[in-house]
Amino acid sequence: MALNMPTAPSEAAVLLSDDRSSLLFPALGLPISIRGVSFRNRIVQAPMCAMYANADGSATRQNVEYYRTRAAGQAGLIIVEITFTDDAGSRAFHAQLGAHDDRMIPGLTDISEAVRAEGAVAGLQLGHCGAQRVVSEPPALAPSAIAWAPGKRVPIELTREEIARIVQDHSDATRRAVQAGFQLLELHAAHGYLVNTFLSPATNQRTDEYGGSFENRLRFPREVIAAMRAELGPKRLLCARLNGDDLLPGGLTIAEYCKIAPALVEAGLDLIHVSAGTYRVMEKRIPPMYLAGETFAAYAGPIRRAAKVPTIASGTIHDPAEANRLIADDEADFVSLARPLFADPALPNKLLQNRPGDVLPCIRCNTCLAREQAGGRGYCAVNPKTGREYERVTPASSVKTIAVIGAGPAGIQSALSASERGHEVVLWERENRIGGQVRLASALPFKHTLPRLLDYYETALERAGVVVRCGESARADTIDADVIVHAVGPTWDTLGALTREAEIPVVGAGDALLHLDEIGGRILIVGAGLAGAELAWALSLRGRQVFLMERDSDFDEDVNLIAKLVLSRELEKCGVHVHFSTQFMGARGDMATVLHDEIPRELQVDAMISTVRRPVPLQAGGRPGVLRLVVGESRGTRGLLDATYSGYRAASAV
Ligand SMILES: Cc1cc2nc3c(=O)[nH]c(=O)nc-3n(C[C@H](O)[C@H](O)[C@H](O)COP(=O)(O)O)c2cc1C
Ligand code: SF4
Repeated sequence: MALNMPTAPSEAAVLLSDDRSSLLFPALGLPISIRGVSFRNRIVQAPMCAMYANADGSATRQNVEYYRTRAAGQAGLIIVEITFTDDAGSRAFHAQLGAHDDRMIPGLTDISEAVRAEGAVAGLQLGHCGAQRVVSEPPALAPSAIAWAPGKRVPIELTREEIARIVQDHSDATRRAVQAGFQLLELHAAHGYLVNTFLSPATNQRTDEYGGSFENRLRFPREVIAAMRAELGPKRLLCARLNGDDLLPGGLTIAEYCKIAPALVEAGLDLIHVSAGTYRVMEKRIPPMYLAGETFAAYAGPIRRAAKVPTIASGTIHDPAEANRLIADDEADFVSLARPLFADPALPNKLLQNRPGDVLPCIRCNTCLAREQAGGRGYCAVNPKTGREYERVTPASSVKTIAVIGAGPAGIQSALSASERGHEVVLWERENRIGGQVRLASALPFKHTLPRLLDYYETALERAGVVVRCGESARADTIDADVIVHAVGPTWDTLGALTREAEIPVVGAGDALLHLDEIGGRILIVGAGLAGAELAWALSLRGRQVFLMERDSDFDEDVNLIAKLVLSRELEKCGVHVHFSTQFMGARGDMATVLHDEIPRELQVDAMISTVRRPVPLQAGGRPGVLRLVVGESRGTRGLLDATYSGYRAASAV
């Protein structure tokens, strides 16, 4: 096995230290070679199902351009997302790539060629989803008939014949990937998918030769690995994504994985990509910005030492200094990043050129994942180009002067995108700092990632040469520009006639964010969207008694799956009274009336916050001949994804 080990990272670092002494992240840039496959550096694009494939699993032009862009950003290894192996239950998602049929080979070839043309190693992840089948069609298959979480679909227990078929399917899919030119295959053996469930006695309760003892539980994974290895031949690498801990009661832990890893290496693995968790602990596996960003990196070192093969550390490694340390300290040979490269494909290039401040940071909003879960395409809330790599940003045919009024995310994005196309841009902001609602929300103690986004915006605007005029109110009728982009955001409604007789402060959510410390006592928040739920959490952390009410039966749709998991838990912990299916009827004096199940109820409160927002009407007047565009929440829409996208679109149109 020693043959498989790369040059120890620390030795390579010493050898090259003269050249690299000025680098901020020298270990990340070290080349490495494994069994003749050369990697230009240690940064890996982690597999991330982006939902760009055709309904039959074949690759689209967007798939190809998406991966070409990530490889052009200088990642050393691109591991293409989970790709299904058969059409009898292995597919997890609606727009997933497939390797189940020879007709997939041409599209997969386009992807691998694009990646290799940009100098990265082309890897592909193969995986059978097992019980965690997100698409609703049958069957869901697993070693035992155990649902992945209480209340979820109970899978069908696989027969021996079906197990043999799945092994053969992995072999056939590997052959197709080899024909398509991939240099590395990764077997998905983590995250609660099929192979992972065979390993764990919590999900594998079979009584035949595939269940029970350690040897029996490893039989299927070993058979798959051996079958894939046989198709790969000696020149291509076989990796497995393996948990370091299932993070479940009764699940496998690092001690057991340290025994499993060397056994799988014996079966034919060259590398191990270490992760953790299953669908049941989605908020740990793909942590939202509310959690401080704990990584799974600590599992990589023990697995590396036990298995004695190169190891990829993964899971929220968003701090480049930490990524560098993992390599420099021999805890891992590579680090993989999923969301950070979704947000900024040029991240490796920027880090390796000592430009960390130029990295557009992933803010862990999980909009990308929410769209996947909702059956859509993967787009990024901070980068409107992600998901549209097939479009090229073209220089404008004539340079125009563009005034953007409002420096929230929509205005900033319009300014950056217009400037990228060669226009001369002035960005006006009435407040003293840019950022709009992002800056307002960054005041909340649990929105850990927003300050970095604000720093990025300031740097990016300066680098783009956008003239930023803060603390000045711009008027459309006095501005001298060819194009005016109206990006002033929403106004917050204080519920009009319903609160006219209230003798307590009634404020909109935007004002509440500015004056958190001044809002005291018992507080009623109307609307359990993201703004309402986060305000409720922040105020309850300040010791206020908070009532959060929502007309619908659940949080509003801008609270995504993972945010909901964390917010519900935190609101409960803080003692926030959450009332769904409850309508606000009005307030008089310090009494609010709400209606639930057609029964009115009175509530004494000291303050009220409304989360209702309205678009600001376009300023009247304006010089004739000036093109006027409206972006972001000024259009009556909501959210960061729409803000950045509309800003980008407006800039593409001028
Ligand atoms: C939208 C989305 C799709 C993902 N798809 C895959 C996948 O296809 N295969 C896989 O092993 N992990 C997948 N993951 C998990 C990531 O590879 C990674 O482990 C996780 O996002 C945490 O790392 P990060 O903070 O670098 O994103 C996905 C994550 C997201 C957000
Ligand atoms: S959508 Fe949000 S979580 Fe996903 S990559 Fe973009 S910033 Fe990160």
